[in-house]
Amino acid sequence: MVDLQGQYLAIKDEINAAIQSILDATQFIKGKPLTHFENDLCAYLGCNHAVGVGNGTDALQIAFMALGIQPGDEIITSPFTFIATAEAAALMGAVPVFADIDPQTYNIDPAQIEPLITPKTKAIVPVHLFGQSADMDPILEIAKRHNIPVIEDCAQAIGATYKGKKIGYFAEYGTLSFFPSKNLGAFGDGGAILSNDEELLGQARLIANHGSKKKYHNEIVGINSRLDSLQAAILQVKLKYLDQYIAARQEAAQRYDTLFADHPMITTPYTAPECNHVFHQYTIRVPKRDALSAFLKERNVPHAIYYPVPLHKLPVFAESMKDVHLPETDRAAAEVISLPMHTELTEEQQVYITTTIKEFLETETVTLTS
Ligand SMILES: Cc1ncc(COP(=O)(O)O)c(C=O)c1O
Repeated sequence: MVDLQGQYLAIKDEINAAIQSILDATQFIKGKPLTHFENDLCAYLGCNHAVGVGNGTDALQIAFMALGIQPGDEIITSPFTFIATAEAAALMGAVPVFADIDPQTYNIDPAQIEPLITPKTKAIVPVHLFGQSADMDPILEIAKRHNIPVIEDCAQAIGATYKGKKIGYFAEYGTLSFFPSKNLGAFGDGGAILSNDEELLGQARLIANHGSKKKYHNEIVGINSRLDSLQAAILQVKLKYLDQYIAARQEAAQRYDTLFADHPMITTPYTAPECNHVFHQYTIRVPKRDALSAFLKERNVPHAIYYPVPLHKLPVFAESMKDVHLPETDRAAAEVISLPMHTELTEEQQVYITTTIKEFLETETVTLTS
C-alpha cells in the first residue's frame, strides 16, 4: 500500500545527516530542532502557531482538554474514519455523536450536523478524510451560529486546500498526525496542533507539557506528549518535499482515473470543485467488494478497506448506538476499497492493479448475466 523504503532511499543522505546532527547534539526532547520544525510547518501552512506533540490522537485529546471538554459533553464528528477522533472524545468522558457522511466525498455531511446539536454539544470535529477537505463553510456557519468550537482533524490531509486556503486554521484548532504512512510521515509516531489564536495554542502547549511553562511550576493538569527532536529533524527534511509528494500522489490518482476510464462498475474518487485533494488514499466503490478483496489477495495485489466497520458499529460504541442509523456510512463501509497510493507508485504497477480489478469485474458481469 505504501513504499516507505523507496521514499527514504530517495533522500537518504539528507535524512541520515539530520539524524546524525541530533545524535551529535544529544538533545532529544524540545529545543531548537522542534522549534525549527514548528516554524517551517507554520510557514508551509501559512499560519501563525503550531505545537509538535506525540501523535495525532494526543493532538485531538489535547485540543479537547484545552477547550475544557467535560464528562457528558457531546462531540459531533464523522462515523466514517479511524477510531482516534471518537476515542479521544470518549477518553475525556464525552459522548461522540455521529453525523452521516456525504456519499461522494465520504466526509461529514454538513446538513446532518445541525439536527444533532443539543445544549450538551461542546465541539464539532470534521475529519478531512482520504486527503480531501470537508465542506467547511457550512460547518463553520453552523458552529458560529450555535457558538460551538470546531477542531479540524487534518491527520490524512496535510497540504490540502479548501477554496484556495490550506486546511487546519479555519477554526479553533487543527490537528495533524505524522504516523509513518501519512502524507508527511515521521519515522515513528508524531503529531501537531495548529491554531491561529496565540492564546488557544498556548493552552495546548501548556497541556502537552505536563501543564507547565516553567519546569517544576506546573499550573494545570496536563499530559506528556511531545514531538521528539529526532522526529522533528526528520520531518523538517521531509517537509521540503511535501509538495513534490503531493504532486506524485495526484499524478498517480489521475493515472488510476484514466485506467478505470468510466468503467460502469467502478466509482472513482470525487474531488469537490472547491478542494485540492492530496490523495492520502485512492478509494473506489465497487459491487461485491469482499469478493474483489479476496480475488486481489489471491493475486498478491495490495489493497485495504478503510473502513470496514463504521465507528457507531464498533464493539466499543455499538451497545450505546443501537438506534443510530447512518445509511450512507453503512453503504460506504460495504462498498469501498482503497488501492496502493504512495509517492513511488509506477504506471506499470497501476496497470497491473487496474487490469486485475477489471478482470474480476468482467467475470462478475458474466456470472451476473448468465
Ligand atoms: C483521521 C485520523 N485522525 C487521527 C489519527 C490518529 O493519528 P495517530 O496515529 O498519529 O495517533 C489518524 C491516524 O491514523 C487518522 O487517520
